[in-house]
Amino acid sequence: MNLLTQMEQSISKMPEQYKNMSHDELNHLITSIKQNLGNDLFLPGHHYQKEEVMNHADARGDSLQLAQLSANTTAKHIVFCGVHFMAETADILSEDHQSVYLPDLRAGCSMADMADIKQTKVAWEELMKLFGDTILPMTYVNSTAAIKSFVGQHGGTTVTSSNAKRVMDWAFTQKERLLFLPDQHLGRNTAYDLGIPLDQMAVWDPILETLIYEGNLTDIKVILWKGHCSVHENFTEHNIQQVREQHQDMAIIVHPECRREVVELSDYNGSTKYIIDTIEGAPSGSKWAIGTEMNLVKRLIKENPDKEIISLNPHMCPCLTMNRIDLAHLAWCLDSINQGLPVNQIKVNEDVSYYSKLALDRMLSL
Ligand code: 13P
Ligand code: SF4
Repeated sequence: MNLLTQMEQSISKMPEQYKNMSHDELNHLITSIKQNLGNDLFLPGHHYQKEEVMNHADARGDSLQLAQLSANTTAKHIVFCGVHFMAETADILSEDHQSVYLPDLRAGCSMADMADIKQTKVAWEELMKLFGDTILPMTYVNSTAAIKSFVGQHGGTTVTSSNAKRVMDWAFTQKERLLFLPDQHLGRNTAYDLGIPLDQMAVWDPILETLIYEGNLTDIKVILWKGHCSVHENFTEHNIQQVREQHQDMAIIVHPECRREVVELSDYNGSTKYIIDTIEGAPSGSKWAIGTEMNLVKRLIKENPDKEIISLNPHMCPCLTMNRIDLAHLAWCLDSINQGLPVNQIKVNEDVSYYSKLALDRMLSL
């Protein structure tokens, strides 16, 4: 069954009873099921999840932390409060007797959707013609299991924003050049930080099936897939200029999924974990404009009342797909497990899982 069919079924299937319950009733139901399932249940929550859901999470983390926790939990049921690729990763890293569920199957990721396996194979074939066997593929974990599997099969690895520099450094010990999927901005920002000049980076356009580059092909060190995060692309140079004009003593910190120009103009950049650690460790009274997902920015504002914190873009919204996980879907998913008729299981097929695990294990061992 393809993802679209699964999504449609999920939308139509959530019984009215959960939609009609109050927040108090849903909270009560979730808490009592969690008590009943005890250690059989693990409920990880990504930092971009909304507050009502995070209140029930057993662990909070960024993509790397949640991948590590999923590899180590012994719980029978993993109810993943995050997006589809994260639940797939949890399924790949967990044991056969464990099952992974995503409370709302519509919780995808627009960036992961910008690279599919057919496009990846076409790109690879064309790039092999141009460069021969000189390229190592690597993929941001924000990608489908099929792409992780392709990368694993070709000697490559996955990467998250927390370990991107370390993993890319390793990748250059393996091959002369890299293909980085699917986020051109994380790829560009990371390679730049490692000292690769922008004029040694090309872009692969999967729609036009073309390599975008002006110069001598032999100079290319990194081929960036033309994908991006639709949330982080909303931070602009104009936002930075406005903060600089209106708050002279405010520091600007952004996620490396932001465009190069934005990262360059900011004071600090780093993964979700880096942003959280920096804000939590900052002195009382310090002032921050943050360029990342809005649910996280709101939480940082709430949990750091001694600091002045704003979103770098005053009109920013939460990530819509992360936000699909709500109390009603969480209650429905948990209730279905509790009653022995689970819904929304995420199961990666065995072949794909084998090679994806190779790519993930390579990353986790670095
Ligand atoms: P990290 O959790 O790796 O920082 O990724 C951010 C993100 O966009 C997750 O979808
Ligand atoms: Fe995908 Fe961006 Fe949302 Fe993360 S924040 S899930 S990369 S769309």
